[in-house]
Amino acid sequence: SLSATALAKEKIYVGTNAEFPPFEYLEKGEITGFDIELMNEMGKVLDAEVKVQDMAFDGLLPALQMKKVDVVIAGMTATEERKKTVAFTQPYYTASQVIIVKEGDNSIKSFDDLKGKRVGVMLGFTGDTVVSEIEGVKVERFNAAYAGIMALKADKVDAVVLDSEPAKNYVKQNAGLKIAEAVAAQEEYAIALRKNDKELLEKIEKALAEVKANGTYDKLLEKYFN
Ligand code: ARG
Repeated sequence: SLSATALAKEKIYVGTNAEFPPFEYLEKGEITGFDIELMNEMGKVLDAEVKVQDMAFDGLLPALQMKKVDVVIAGMTATEERKKTVAFTQPYYTASQVIIVKEGDNSIKSFDDLKGKRVGVMLGFTGDTVVSEIEGVKVERFNAAYAGIMALKADKVDAVVLDSEPAKNYVKQNAGLKIAEAVAAQEEYAIALRKNDKELLEKIEKALAEVKANGTYDKLLEKYFN
């Protein structure tokens, strides 16, 4: 007969930062969102139990390296810098950085127009890097996107630079804000794993390919982005 261990499902320990709607956020105290549902679907494909842990965004890759988690899914852009320390799967979403301003503000039409402005970014997000590279910007760093949005509403900053989907989400939920018509480079979100964790990387890649092929991924896109 089968032993208890043979019956116990494999567990996949996943780290995220649930302050990034619609990719990951808290709903009645539960972590949910596109990334979380995608990960759960991948867990089904692998017949594994997905255990999600919420932590600060800039703590995610250290937690991965210290083996507190084995997988990170957090709307994380697969940057060249991050690729030096972790492995990324194939991309699962294309995003870009956008500029959020007050509705009546027509002074910002490009990222260069941020010169001389007080611009809110989130600590360790790619938006931080993008804005920090523009000369003459007064960069204000926040711990979460919501805090940046609140600062903009309170006129403590002139603009907030954030990923496109969360930006749309916050603009929809906060009257008096809009997305400026500036064009930014595209970024690819991917799932991060330890470089030497080849076996799990292969499994996750396979599961991602499977949910993309079997229509599950498309259903989630439809649910969260339409
Ligand atoms: N895409 C951006 C980055 O990789 C922001 C991701 C923030 N994600 C989050 N769950 N807080 O830096």
